[in-house]
Amino acid sequence: MEDVFSLKGKNAIVIGGAGGIGQSIAKGLAFYGANVAIASRKLAGLEQAAQEIKEEVGKDIKIFQVDSSEEGSIKELVAAVAADMGKVDILVNSQGYNVKHNALEFPMDEWDALFKVNVKGVMMCCKEFAAVMSKQNYGKIINISSVRGSRACGGGNAAYCSSKGALDMMTRTLAVELAPYNITVNAIGPALTETKMVASFLAKDPGGKERYAKSIPLGRIGYTDDIIGASVFLASAASSYVTGQVIYPDGGLTAIG
Ligand SMILES: NC(=O)c1ccc[n+]([C@@H]2O[C@H](COP(=O)([O-])OP(=O)(O)OC[C@H]3O[C@@H](n4cnc5c(N)ncnc54)[C@H](OP(=O)(O)O)[C@@H]3O)[C@@H](O)[C@H]2O)c1
Repeated sequence: MEDVFSLKGKNAIVIGGAGGIGQSIAKGLAFYGANVAIASRKLAGLEQAAQEIKEEVGKDIKIFQVDSSEEGSIKELVAAVAADMGKVDILVNSQGYNVKHNALEFPMDEWDALFKVNVKGVMMCCKEFAAVMSKQNYGKIINISSVRGSRACGGGNAAYCSSKGALDMMTRTLAVELAPYNITVNAIGPALTETKMVASFLAKDPGGKERYAKSIPLGRIGYTDDIIGASVFLASAASSYVTGQVIYPDGGLTAIG
């Protein structure tokens, strides 16, 4: 029987791979055999992440700078990746952020800026890399969504929850449209996961981490390495017949409504 989880010979690009969930995913894909590149805006973060992954997995990681909210920057990335790596088998969109404001006072310029990264930017990355994948008649796209795409909450999260809900539906729609090119499109929906993004929110909420952990059936918040299993599954032949799905490594949160 073949090793359906092996990524040997596959080329992967992880956007938002400099830290947090994206870095763990890049590490996991490299461990399972892929040639991995990471991309984001800041060179220093990319270099540090590549170094850390090399120390853990023993593989060189390529780095590319991109602002995934700008179409021109994405086109340059696609060209640079094609020139350097040739084919692209796996695209992970892990870029994204949250900004919290009371719904009655939400500054709409901040709403637009968030949607530009969390929704439009992901669409542009899917569009441009899917064009490459369609010529190969092969591709695996993985969008990092959130439990907040399907599970509402208060606390100023209107823009974030809406953006992830849009991302879930974009994932399903692209799965249908790209299926004829043998490209699968799936999403991963983590619950609260310990990263820099959440550290700033938790710092303003003493006891918040413990309170949140109690609401999770498995009794703890997530760690970035909790996302590796789902990402390797969705990047590999193990998920050949899986598309348009959102997988939740969430400690059971979505199971309770
Ligand atoms: N942490 C959680 O609790 C949690 C839970 C559910 C879902 N998520 C989702 O998981 C994903 C990763 O979150 P994280 O917690 O790992 O956050 P993070 O540590 O802040 O990582 C976000 C990454 O996105 C990159 N990025 C942001 N804007 C970008 C842009 N315009 N162009 C290119 N890269 C950009 C950042 O690098 P640069 O600054 O160098 O650009 C960084 O590498 C996000 O989509 C988030 O919504 C997180």
